[in-house]
Amino acid sequence: MADDDQRQDGGDRPGRLRGAWRALFGEQDVAPPGRMRVSASRNAPHPRALLIEQLIGGMPGAAIVLDSDTRVIAFNAAAASIAPALRSGEPALITLRMPELVDAIRRAGKTGEPQRVEFFERVPLDRWFEAFVTPVELDEGTGASSILMMTFNDLTPLRRVEEMRADFIANASHELRTPLAALLGFIETLQGPAKNDVAAREKFLGIMQQQAARMARLIDDLLSLSRIELNAHLPPSAAVDLAPLVRQVADGLQTLARDRQVEIVMDAPEEPLVVRGDRDELIRALENLVENALKYGAAGKRVDITLSQAKTRGGLPEARIAVRDHGPGIAPEHLPRLTERFYRVDVADSRSQGGTGLGLALVKHVLARHGGRVSIESKRGDGATFTMHLPLRTGE
Ligand SMILES: Nc1ncnc2c1ncn2[C@@H]1O[C@H](COP(=O)(O)OP(=O)(O)OP(=O)(O)O)[C@@H](O)[C@H]1O
Ligand SMILES: [Mg+2]
Repeated sequence: MADDDQRQDGGDRPGRLRGAWRALFGEQDVAPPGRMRVSASRNAPHPRALLIEQLIGGMPGAAIVLDSDTRVIAFNAAAASIAPALRSGEPALITLRMPELVDAIRRAGKTGEPQRVEFFERVPLDRWFEAFVTPVELDEGTGASSILMMTFNDLTPLRRVEEMRADFIANASHELRTPLAALLGFIETLQGPAKNDVAAREKFLGIMQQQAARMARLIDDLLSLSRIELNAHLPPSAAVDLAPLVRQVADGLQTLARDRQVEIVMDAPEEPLVVRGDRDELIRALENLVENALKYGAAGKRVDITLSQAKTRGGLPEARIAVRDHGPGIAPEHLPRLTERFYRVDVADSRSQGGTGLGLALVKHVLARHGGRVSIESKRGDGATFTMHLPLRTGE
């Protein structure tokens, strides 16, 4: 028998797999891959079921093993979470209803070749998987038996990142295209109909400057964001006293506050409150929160900035900088998405104020790099409070 000849030297089974099977099943059990064969006893549990179960039980990813009749021999907990209807001894082709997977199982059984497929599950959540279906032949000595080993990788996080990247590029291009279209329009007007109109030229140049500045700001913000993300794994180490920092930000925004007829009220302790941080990044983050309060909460006429020391839920000391406005507030459905790049409650309102929707994304990343977080509370009609939480190191 050809199989017997091949069994002497392990046949053409790839070396790595051959070694693993020798170690697990002993020399006499190693058989070359080939076509699926019908197992000796149809309904009895597979003779290696227990061992196979233990083997795949320790695997982190989902794994299912089928016999030559595509009945389930064993599966692990991760597999049960993908296909809750799996039962040992039951036909897999009925339980696993994903058509791509069923095809791959059939193909693997027919050809004896490993198969790879991707499939998508909508229920209970959108998830993408890749599955490998690998035929493995065991020879029990009493009769031939072969199994199909199925392993799964969850591709969902990878797909989400891909989607986010595509969204990001679409958003960034759109945000750049809008001022660029305005610039091109005005250039055309100045070259044509308004060529000799001095008053129009002055007016248009002013608008063009604003639009160009907006593009420059957008690019600046994008570069800052990617720099902060690149450094996310390097926690900042300089000592930063927060009270002078808060005062500096409040002073710097006095002109905008006067413009909007808003009073900035500061409350900070006398004694120093020092965190490990990157001063410029913290200033940038706080500036955005105060600027937002002045822009979107101007109707409240007052913005409170409060610096304090408190404890996290876990009992660790932290510094808090809360920026509270008394404006219209934010509807609850927007709160979870506010820190996404380009997300704005009212796009027209934000744009008219020169905003690009990157400010809160920047705040979130700055705080994450500092080991802290931003929290948002708001009631419609009763303003909003954005709080920066920064860990305070003890014993230094
Ligand atoms: N204090 C606030 N009151 C009401 N709405 C707010 C407040 N702060 C932020 N928002 C809403 O959240 C959105 C996102 O804010 P974010 O700072 O990320 O972007 P932006 O201010 O529009 O643009 P940028 O900060 O890039 O100039 C704003 O467009 C606004 O709709
Ligand atoms: Mg902003």
